[in-house]
Amino acid sequence: MGADSTKDFIIRLGEVSDLPLLYLMLYEAAAANPAIRQLDREAALSLPQVRKYVEGWGRRGDQAVVAAEHTGRQLGAAWYRLFTAQDPAYGFVSEDVPEVTMGVVDDARGRGIGSALLKRIVEQAREEGFDALSLSVEADSEAVALYERHGFELVGKSKQRPTSNIMILRL
Ligand SMILES: CC(C)(COP(=O)(O)OP(=O)(O)OC[C@H]1O[C@@H](n2cnc3c(N)ncnc32)[C@H](O)[C@@H]1OP(=O)(O)O)[C@@H](O)C(=O)NCCC(=O)NCCS
Repeated sequence: MGADSTKDFIIRLGEVSDLPLLYLMLYEAAAANPAIRQLDREAALSLPQVRKYVEGWGRRGDQAVVAAEHTGRQLGAAWYRLFTAQDPAYGFVSEDVPEVTMGVVDDARGRGIGSALLKRIVEQAREEGFDALSLSVEADSEAVALYERHGFELVGKSKQRPTSNIMILRL
C-alpha cells in the first residue's frame, strides 16, 4: 500500500530500515513510566520487558506505520506485535490480539501525528483480519484520551505493571 498524503506529513508502512526509529519511539513510550524515565535510553532499551516490543522484528504479525515529513525526516511510529501467554508484554490479553506501541518525536507532538498514526495502524490491523488490538498505558497519561477517542476501552490493569491500564479496541 502507498503512503497517505495528510497535511504536512505522510503516514506510510514501516520498513526494516525504520527499526532505529521504532527503538527511539519505544523509549519515548516506555519512559511514560516513571521508573523507566529515570534510566537513560540505552539502559531502558536493554530491559527485556522493554526491548521485547521490537527485538527480532519481522515475526509473523509484526506491522508498523511511520510518520515522516515530505523531506523524509521521521516524526513518529506506531506498530503492533503478537505475544505469547508464556512471554507476555504489559498489554497482553490474548495470543491473537496484537499489542500497539506508539510514539511521536518530542518537538512534533500535538500536531495530530499520533492520531493519524493510530488511525492508520488500526486500519492495517482490520485489513489483516485481526479481531482486536490491545495496548498498555500509564493510567494518568494524556495518551488515554487519544486512545479513547479512537475507540479503545479500559479492560483492566496490567498484571506486570500495576500503574498501567490495558485498553482494547474491537475491530
Ligand atoms: C501520545 C503521543 C503518541 C501522541 O502523539 P501526538 O502527535 O502528540 O498526538 P496528537 O497531536 O494527535 O494529539 C492527540 C492527543 O494526544 C494527547 N497528547 C498531546 N500532546 C501530548 C503529549 N505531549 N504527551 C502525551 N499526550 C499528548 C492529547 O490527548 C491529544 O489530544 P488533544 O488533541 O485533545 O490535545 C505523543 O504525545 C507521545 O509520543 N508521547 C510520549 C510517549 C507516550 O506517551 N506514548 C504513549 C504511551 S503508551
